[in-house]
Amino acid sequence: MKRINLLTLAGYRERGERFACLTAYDASFARCMANAGIEVILVGDSLGMVLQGHNSTIPVTVDDMTYHVEAVKRGTQETEMRPMIMADLPFMSFATLDETLRNAGQLMRAGAQVVKIEGGRELAERVARLHENGVPCCVHLGLTPQSVNCFGGFRVQGRDAETAERILEDVRILTEAGAAIVLLECVPEPLATRIQQQVSVPTIGIGAGPNLDGQVLVMHDMLGLGVGRSPRFVHDFLAGQTGIEDAFQAYVTAVREGAYPAAEHWFAE
Ligand code: KIV
Repeated sequence: MKRINLLTLAGYRERGERFACLTAYDASFARCMANAGIEVILVGDSLGMVLQGHNSTIPVTVDDMTYHVEAVKRGTQETEMRPMIMADLPFMSFATLDETLRNAGQLMRAGAQVVKIEGGRELAERVARLHENGVPCCVHLGLTPQSVNCFGGFRVQGRDAETAERILEDVRILTEAGAAIVLLECVPEPLATRIQQQVSVPTIGIGAGPNLDGQVLVMHDMLGLGVGRSPRFVHDFLAGQTGIEDAFQAYVTAVREGAYPAAEHWFAE
């Protein structure tokens, strides 16, 4: 039995090996992902969009997240490989330090090994306190969907020099505070590459280019179930495959071999 944890990811990073992450929200898909070799399962608050049908992640609650973390945990309890389970702290669930600790505790008790939190340097104290309390934290920067109303839409972040420097500095502050993983969404490839070189913790990208340690996609998107126009970084891994587990395996192989993401999936500037 192989259990994936933060040390495993650090080893991949050290050896320059790429790892694959997908979102899952229930036991069956989580089990299928584990069997296909997906190293990290993200129970993302994207469930608000792909499961619940909302047009953003904002309506998702901590209880919603807890229910799905428990299901994913049960799905991976008997598998040969046990992917690492990461769970989102949803919108407004980390508004204060007390709420952050209480809600992160709830997700960890449900089965998460890492909690993911969206934002920049303003989260430094919360990240430090989580770390002190034994809660590894993945910081999500760039396009942070919970702030869609501040961004005025789902847009690439860090295109101008000032915002790029701000994101770089946010990453420095948050990793110094104890962040265990950095996840970058929709930032230009050169910025993501600079961040990859700057940090010593594992990095994961979505629409952030090929140079990060891991890649993540929303499961529904990579199975071709996205609604409307797909974002640039989405590739349909089910096309040409005979089943869903084959699609997950094709994704794992493409990420490990560096075939995904390809140039058409990232933003050059
Ligand atoms: O909630 C989610 O699925 C995410 C990914 C887009 C990284 O945060």
